[in-house]
Amino acid sequence: MNFDIYRGKRVLVTGHTGFKGSWLAIWLHQLGAKVYGYSLPPPTKPSNYALAGVKALLAGEVIGDVCDRKRLAAAVRRWKPDIVFHLAAQPLVRLSYQEPYATFEANVLGTASVLDAVRAGDAGGGRGAPALPALGASCRAGVGGKTAVVCITTDKCYENKEQAKGYRETDPFGGYDPYSASKGAAEILIASYRRSFGMNLASVRAGNVIGGGDWAKDRIIPDMVKALKKGQKPGVRNPKAVRPWQHVLEPLSGYLALGAKMLAEPCSATWCSGWNFGPERTGEDDVGHVADLVARAWGDGAAWEFTGDPKAVHEANLLRLDIAKAKKTLGWKPRWSLEDAIAHTIGWYKRATRKNARALCLADIGAYEGVRS
Ligand SMILES: NC(=O)c1ccc[n+]([C@@H]2O[C@H](COP(=O)([O-])OP(=O)(O)OC[C@H]3O[C@@H](n4cnc5c(N)ncnc54)[C@H](O)[C@@H]3O)[C@@H](O)[C@H]2O)c1
Repeated sequence: MNFDIYRGKRVLVTGHTGFKGSWLAIWLHQLGAKVYGYSLPPPTKPSNYALAGVKALLAGEVIGDVCDRKRLAAAVRRWKPDIVFHLAAQPLVRLSYQEPYATFEANVLGTASVLDAVRAGDAGGGRGAPALPALGASCRAGVGGKTAVVCITTDKCYENKEQAKGYRETDPFGGYDPYSASKGAAEILIASYRRSFGMNLASVRAGNVIGGGDWAKDRIIPDMVKALKKGQKPGVRNPKAVRPWQHVLEPLSGYLALGAKMLAEPCSATWCSGWNFGPERTGEDDVGHVADLVARAWGDGAAWEFTGDPKAVHEANLLRLDIAKAKKTLGWKPRWSLEDAIAHTIGWYKRATRKNARALCLADIGAYEGVRS
């Protein structure tokens, strides 16, 4: 994969204070891009954003809500990004049961707000509401489609039938819990903006992402690491649930590969569509086995225990992504096995300090780029 196109490009990352967004900002900066960030404050303490000193890498930053349409539109007007990676979201299934309205607001209206800000910027950045291009407007400078936008949704956007077959990009959207439904709704919204306004716009769906620098609640590896660091035995809620696991650099490399195509060929129907960036079949495994691998990588006789809760909220048991399209059309494919991904992740958590966190991220990026694709 060649990411040279990012050198000197103006790139806006929403959600840059979060887990995936902070890694993406570091990678883009290393590729020579001018990186701008728009996000609420880091959702966790500690955070990769703070530890890795992401702020120092940015050409501009606003700590703000993507639902604040005026503020976001002003930032987009000021920064004039060539490409936007929209990651800002409420990303947790269990929290979405406690805060359904806030989840829909951030994930659905937040996405509309980002797309409107880009449309306004593309239309010349006038004050007030964007000038509406004609229905089905083609992609041309000044009327939608100048700026590339890659919207990050999730594997959970598909209607989950607990099927063994992986979901394909053409499968229907759905969602049982508010998080999944909000991302299914965001997908419908994104397709509508693309069709109606001829935007240079794609959506991307990844699996269960792991990697150093994630401290989110109710995610298996951060939960295990927090317990192991305190010398406690981690509890595992749902050991039989099967998930598509992947290191954070896998989907990010897919987003970057797709974004590079969208920059080179704006509004191509091929690139402006939905994309799955999941693992190979060998990366699909149950939570219990992942917990075993984490305990082994941690060493010191680490072990976990089952802490299932019969009153727990519904969470999908089986979720697989079909990645044939990304492999065939984009030439992207996963590079690290599940074991590699866990070794890099646990190695990061064991070594990271405020002094070396960014260097550890860059070392992982270097190791990942060094694998022949
Ligand atoms: N981590 C995963 O396993 C995974 C899997 C599939 C998809 N995703 C998606 O990837 C994206 C990033 O996820 P993550 O794991 O890095 O989550 P995260 O919680 O670490 O980061 C989310 C980011 O969004 C910001 N944010 C939240 N609400 C906002 C708002 N209203 N306005 C502005 N900023 C806001 C947060 O401050 C943070 O910077 C999300 O869209 C998520 O749905 C994550």
